[in-house]
Amino acid sequence: MNRRSFLLAGTATLLAGGRAMAQMKMDGMDGMDGMDGMEGMEGMGGMHAGHDTMAMPGSLPVLPEGAPLRDLQRLVNRAAEPGLFEATLTAEPAIARIAEGLDTPILGYNGDSPGPLIEVTEGERVKITLANRLSGQESTIHWHGMPVPADQDGNPMDPVAAGDDRTYSFDLPEGSAGSYWYHPHPHAKTAEQVYRGLAGAFLVKPKLDPIPAAYGDTLLFFTDLRLAADGTMPENTMVDAMNGRVGDHVLVNGQKNPVLTVPAGTQRRFRLFNATNARYLRLAFGDAPMTIVGTDGGLLEAPVPGVKDILLGPAERMEVIVAFDKPGTATLRTLDYDRGWMGPGRPKDAGIELLTIAISKTNAEPVPPLPATLRPIADLGAASVSRRFVFSETMAMAAGGMEMGFLINGVSFDMNRVDVVSKTGEVELWELVNQADMDHPFHVHGTQFQLVETERDGKVAKPPFRAWKDTVNLARGETVRILLRQDRPGPRMYHCHILEHEQLGMMGIVDVRA
Ligand code: C2O
Ligand code: CU
Ligand code: CU
Repeated sequence: MNRRSFLLAGTATLLAGGRAMAQMKMDGMDGMDGMDGMEGMEGMGGMHAGHDTMAMPGSLPVLPEGAPLRDLQRLVNRAAEPGLFEATLTAEPAIARIAEGLDTPILGYNGDSPGPLIEVTEGERVKITLANRLSGQESTIHWHGMPVPADQDGNPMDPVAAGDDRTYSFDLPEGSAGSYWYHPHPHAKTAEQVYRGLAGAFLVKPKLDPIPAAYGDTLLFFTDLRLAADGTMPENTMVDAMNGRVGDHVLVNGQKNPVLTVPAGTQRRFRLFNATNARYLRLAFGDAPMTIVGTDGGLLEAPVPGVKDILLGPAERMEVIVAFDKPGTATLRTLDYDRGWMGPGRPKDAGIELLTIAISKTNAEPVPPLPATLRPIADLGAASVSRRFVFSETMAMAAGGMEMGFLINGVSFDMNRVDVVSKTGEVELWELVNQADMDHPFHVHGTQFQLVETERDGKVAKPPFRAWKDTVNLARGETVRILLRQDRPGPRMYHCHILEHEQLGMMGIVDVRA
């Protein structure tokens, strides 16, 4: 049977009661409005993919563009003593004015989405209280990519009930500087809490930054938004469950296509965060050349110049220096990237304008050159254990209908099952085999890892530079090998960071024992 009709048949049956899908809400899924070009979908019981190509013209809200790029709000440190960062993040419903004349109910941290920027310096102690004021929903805060103890890392096993407060405390060791982020991680609710607005940037600054301050430090935090005609965010559909939710508007620091004005000759440091549920961002700043200086876990050993475009899968971050030489306009826009799409409604990948850089005629003050080396990155050495993880998607007949599963080593996530037992301080080689028809961005909690090689159709490729990563894309049909070491004991999650896939089972637990 051809894949497409198999999928559609599967989807139709799922609507009738697949167990794996039971947690996806079905509201707002009646009506086939705007589903042109979807022959063969009659009798599906209604689906709305929600992408702009499929909507009735003029019916969807228009978002204002072209406002000056704003800085993220900062979380204020209320601690008096030096070396301590103490604050509260209240997860709560709020109303945002995103589209002209429409109120959008969101979930925000302290009323905002993205949540406030947390900025600390390595070596500091952090004490952040989550006040969960979401109505009737558990939540947690997970410190994505950060070296925090397992019991402070917001695992789904440690939920904070609605109405409760809980304080997370951890020390950020020397050498932990990097561009991290935070988001909820409750069981079966992560995807929705994130797409409704709960996510923020967490910057750990080094004591001494090798990149001169003259390059600036501009954060670009990407989220993905879908708005219905009335300004509300629609529930996830079956298409979202399969592919992950991809919105209609990619926002930068909560704004659509804002403008950053710089003088000609500017060299600017940007930190890019992909905080979308499921959108791959292959990016270029017009023709402006990029130099990569950092990844998920902080700076590289040396700058990597001459880069034309970069790929940021969901949850990945990168630091780049971009040179804007001549007066005019450079647009940060998306390029095509096919990550595998199941069923109808593949959203547009290419040509989305994310940020307009207006380069003025005034000349920038010259900046000192970038240092030839940034910092050492330790060689992890040889692995004493190797493990294999196979990622697959399944559709199987089961009592009551067709079930769709996102599996690792053939099983779906179970909070009460330990999948792997590791030892603190031991270097492991993880072989991540993607046997699925979609890309899956792999993430592991509690540590940063190094990419060893990727293999596709028998061809092995080594990474162009050594880097610390906590999330790596597994392209369709690809095998990725990584080296990692967990230094703190306790249970850690590993999962696909397409949050709908994580929620539908593509997650496991590694229990790290001392
Ligand atoms: Cu961004 Cu399990 O995390
Ligand atoms: Cu994480
Ligand atoms: Cu996935």
